[in-house]
Amino acid sequence: MSLKDKINLQQLPLHIAVIMDGNGRWAKERGQDRLFGHYHGVESVREIVEGCAELGVGYLTLYAFSTENWDRPEYEVTGLMELLVETIKKEVVTLNKNNIRLHVIGDVKKLPESARGELDEAIAQTSKNTGLNLIMALSYSSRWEITEAIKKMAEEVKSGLLDPASIDQQTLHRYLCTSQFPDPELMIRTSGEYRISNFLLYQLAYTELYFTNVRWPDFRKEKLFEAILDFQGRERRFGKTSEQVKQENHLESGSV
Ligand code: IPE
Ligand code: IPE
Ligand code: MG
Repeated sequence: MSLKDKINLQQLPLHIAVIMDGNGRWAKERGQDRLFGHYHGVESVREIVEGCAELGVGYLTLYAFSTENWDRPEYEVTGLMELLVETIKKEVVTLNKNNIRLHVIGDVKKLPESARGELDEAIAQTSKNTGLNLIMALSYSSRWEITEAIKKMAEEVKSGLLDPASIDQQTLHRYLCTSQFPDPELMIRTSGEYRISNFLLYQLAYTELYFTNVRWPDFRKEKLFEAILDFQGRERRFGKTSEQVKQENHLESGSV
């Protein structure tokens, strides 16, 4: 039985989020420049997107570039932006063939115009697709997102469109750039770092976290299946007791 066959398709994580980390080290370990790692990382992106689409996962968010990554050496930032433009151009056909809809979250105003143009086009060209929602986090950070949300809320309060007394968690959710998406159920970080690095801090409140030492360019389909199987072996309690959760599952499965 292959790993894929062991996955329970009725219990797939609805939304998987990934911190694709370790490209630079992967390249250095091979005596190559960091950009070599980023190029190889694109093949992993392809495989993971394909794997999620094949299984029927609803949402996949990929952390591709953080607001802090702008502070990397200029040649690396330029190389990454070029890779981004090139990849989007090439992949639109495949996205459409696989019924995948592209979304972007982040401070895209900071991206070079060529990248923004390609992105807008790809988003428009895939907007009718109804399968996997692929969300690229580009020039994204959670603190940026929350700050922007608060700014917008404050403006609307000032102009009388929003009553401060009415603000609850749903209100805040509407102002985040992830308002159209459910919270991730599984978050994967590659390359052996155990941190969140400013990624979806609010949305990850009850997400199952999965850390692996595998560098991103080596994270291929089988590794994704391993992570999903690990997720399926966990008990998600959302603050309740294990007994309560078991009883609820029992009732849900209609066995009482
Ligand atoms: C992840 O790999 C890709 C980006 C952050 C753009 P890194 O470039 O962070 O690789 P390491 O962590 O230095 O190995
Ligand atoms: C997080 O990786 C950002 C992305 C994967 C895009 P980093 O490599 O930038 O994170 P730190 O610096 O190790 O926390
Ligand atoms: Mg890194």
